[in-house]
Formats: sequence, structure tokens, C-alpha cells
Amino acid sequence: MYRPPRPTPLAAVISLLRTAARGGGDLMSLLPAKAYRVRAGWLGYSRRGILIVNDPELLRDVLTDPAGIYPKNDLMAGALEPLVGNSIFVSHGDVWRRQRRMIDPAFSHMRLGKAFVSMSAAVDDYEHRLDALCGTGEPFSLDLAMSHLTADIICRTVFSTSLRSQTAIDVFESFTVFERTCAQVEFKRLVFDKPFAAIPQHPEVLAACERIRHHLGELVDSHLAGGEGGAVWDDIAAEVIAARDLDTGEGFTRKELLDQLGVMFLAGHETTASALIWTFMILGLQPQAMARLRAEVDASGDGALSLEQVRRMTFVRNVFKETLRLYPPIPFIPRVAAEDAVIGGHRAKRGTMLMIAPWTIHRHRDLWKDPHAFDPDRFSAEREHELIPGAYLPFGLGPRVCIGAGFAQLEASLILARLCRRYDFEILDADRIRPVARLTTRPEKQLMCRVRRRADA
Ligand code: HEM
Repeated sequence: MYRPPRPTPLAAVISLLRTAARGGGDLMSLLPAKAYRVRAGWLGYSRRGILIVNDPELLRDVLTDPAGIYPKNDLMAGALEPLVGNSIFVSHGDVWRRQRRMIDPAFSHMRLGKAFVSMSAAVDDYEHRLDALCGTGEPFSLDLAMSHLTADIICRTVFSTSLRSQTAIDVFESFTVFERTCAQVEFKRLVFDKPFAAIPQHPEVLAACERIRHHLGELVDSHLAGGEGGAVWDDIAAEVIAARDLDTGEGFTRKELLDQLGVMFLAGHETTASALIWTFMILGLQPQAMARLRAEVDASGDGALSLEQVRRMTFVRNVFKETLRLYPPIPFIPRVAAEDAVIGGHRAKRGTMLMIAPWTIHRHRDLWKDPHAFDPDRFSAEREHELIPGAYLPFGLGPRVCIGAGFAQLEASLILARLCRRYDFEILDADRIRPVARLTTRPEKQLMCRVRRRADA
């Protein structure tokens, strides 16, 4: 069995000392070994108290939050605020309920069918780029490549524009600054800050957010003005603009639209890019898995792939699901106790951070057989009965489950099928790859690879 790279869990005392000494690093590499074993337990190194909750029953209580006392964590919400305001990803209670009701239809089945056409066009364009790279044999960053491709897909499906436009390129580059510098990725805040403290923002993050919102504003205004020659926009932005509150009949204000569409861009491309980097890494290093995947894809012929064909590719889907288990793009789903609470016998004072960590839950020895091994057949129909409800949550769980889960799975399956059918990926410096938790789960250093036209095609 192949066990892809992961940080070695630390002894509790070493974890504590390293954290105190550095005040830096990332939560994933500083986790003590017990974080992978407990039902629920304290991570000993934070001023505010961090309770990690791994047990499926307990975490369900936190994420479904029937009493409304576990909102999104204040540190995360504050760090994302300059970009996404109080939008669906971070809002709480009635504000969130209204937003979710209004945005859900933009991710309906029918919309996914339309999005598939734009996704396929983005992959067509992307193949031209890869063809050029095959010609030169130049190494390139898989991280940047995947972020670019998924950002292009978001631009096309949300705004009917492509990453070829200067606006979209500027948005993409500003997002890269945001991803690297946003306060949420500063581990020292988690360790030293008091709960509910104001989050100082870096000037460069604020400038990047301003640029992104300026461009989002242009795109929203062009939609509000209607298409050229009276044409009607037919994309996700148009659906969100047309959405009405069932009670008041009112739509989102312009500011709210910028907030919501900023989230679509953020949550809609960084996550899928993260998952694809790891999937291509595994397939590049595991020829047997690649061969099985190609056998399934090749059975659909070498023409354009239809949505139905992609949906029927169960091994492609299972490879992606298993990669989401080993490398969940959102490794930590933080909440905060807005009131004193008791969770699994632990007293959590107001302000405690409640850490639901797909990263540790997906690798918990009581929940998974051989948890660090890559075994896509765990998700096959024959073995489905082995899965423990609540132990697999790359898209979250409960009412706040990811709105774009169907979109992301379709997009990823299409990209994997199309690119693996045509190219061989050679992963460089494989022994130096190490995952870290930034805004999403990323390789510590950019993952470099070379691409060639598939040898056995
Ligand atoms: C592999 C790709 C993706 C992963 C792993 C992922 C993961 C997640 C997770 C874990 C949550 C829940 C966070 C929480 O409870 O705090 C979430 C929420 C969300 N995701 Fe995704 N996501 C992905 C793709 C997408 C895409 C493609 C979109 C939109 C185009 C999207 C939009 C959202 C939104 C708007 C929410 C907030 C939902 C709410 O709170 O009501 N995500 N996602």
C-alpha cells in the first residue's frame, strides 16, 4: 500500500515547546500524536483554548449546532472579512439562513449541466498550454497550474469571462497575494490572541482585497446593465443577482453581491486546486492507479466527454474521494463557543476554539483501516458498508455543508479524465514533498512536475 507524504506527529511536550519557541509554523505540522487518537481533547498550546473534536457523534453536534451557539470561528471570519464581508461562508443565524436560501438555486442540477460546458471549454484551452509545455520539457509548478485552471473555470461559470482577460488575470494574482498573506494562516494568532480580538490586517492583503473587489464590482455592474445587444446573462452571477428573499421580495444589495461573489471565487477555486495538486501527485507516483484510471477513461473513446460519461467514471471519482480523505483541502473547520458549553465531558469556556479537523478525523485509527494508505477502493460500492457515518467530511457536514460539492466533484473528475487520458506527469523531487495548512492544504514548496504526451496512447 502506498502511504503518501504527511508530517510526523509530535510528542505532546515537543509540540508545545516548538510552538512556544517558534510561534510560527502551521497547525498541521505541530499537531501532537494524541490529536489523531482522542475522541475530543485539548491542544495544549493556545491562550484561548483549542478543543479538537474527532468523534463523529460529538462533531455532528457542533456542526449541526441546533442551539445556535457554535458560529464560525471569529479568527477565520475576521481574517476573511476584507474580502468576503459577512457573506454566506462566515455569517451566522438568520443572516446566513437567508443567504443560503437565496444562493442554493445557483448550484442546482440544471446549472451544473450548463457549467459542465464551460468547464470543458476551459480544459480545451488548458490542453493547448500543456501541449506547449510538452514541446519544451520545462518543469512547471503544479500548484500554479491547478490554481490557474480552476480559477479560469470559476471565471467562466460565475461571470462568463475567461482568465485570458486582463481583469481576471489581475484578480487571480491578487488572490495569490491574499492566499499567502491572509491573517488566518498566521499560526501565532491562534496561539497568542485572545478570543474575539480585532484582527490587524496586512496592508498588502487590504490592497489585494480592494483590487479584487474593484474588479468584482465591474463584473457585477456589467451583469446589472444586461448583456450586449439586450442578451441575457446565463451564469452563476446572474442567478445570484436574480435571487429574491422569500419573505421581503428583496435581492442582494451591490455590496452583498460583491461579498457573495468574492466567496464563490475564493471557496470555488483554491479548494479544488488543492485537491487536484495532490491527486496528480499521487497518480504521477503510482503507475498502477494511473493505469486503472486510464482504462476506465479510455473506455469512453477519445472524443469529447459528456457529463453522463464523466459521472459514470466510478474509479476516477473514488481516486478523487480518497485524495480528499488524505489531503482534505480545508483541513480544519473551526467554530467558536459563543457560550460556555460541555463537549464530550470537556468544559469549553466562551471563546474556546472548537476544531473539527477533517485532517485528523480522516486519519484517525479508530475510524479508518490503515488510515494513511491510499486505497481508493474504500469508496467502492462493495466496501461502502465499512464507512462510518460522520468520519468522512471533506465538504463539511450538516446545514453548512459545502454548496459547491457537486460542482467541485464534477469539475475534478472531468479534469482528471481529460488530462490523464492525454498526458504523463512526472513529479519532481518527490521525496521532498510535505503538506502544510495554509488557506488550504498545500505542498510546503511548490510542487514541480514535467509533462509529456502520454507514452502508451
Ligand atoms: C474540492 C473542493 C471543495 C472543498 C473540499 C470544499 C470544502 C468546503 C467545506 C469543508 C465547507 C464547510 C466549511 C464550514 O463548515 O466551516 C465549505 C463551504 C462552502 N463552500 Fe466549499 N469546498 C469545495 C469547493 C467549493 C466550490 C467549487 C464552491 C463554489 C463554487 C464552494 C463554495 C462554498 C460555500 C459558498 C460554502 C459556505 C456554505 C455555507 O456556509 O452555507 N466550495 N466548502
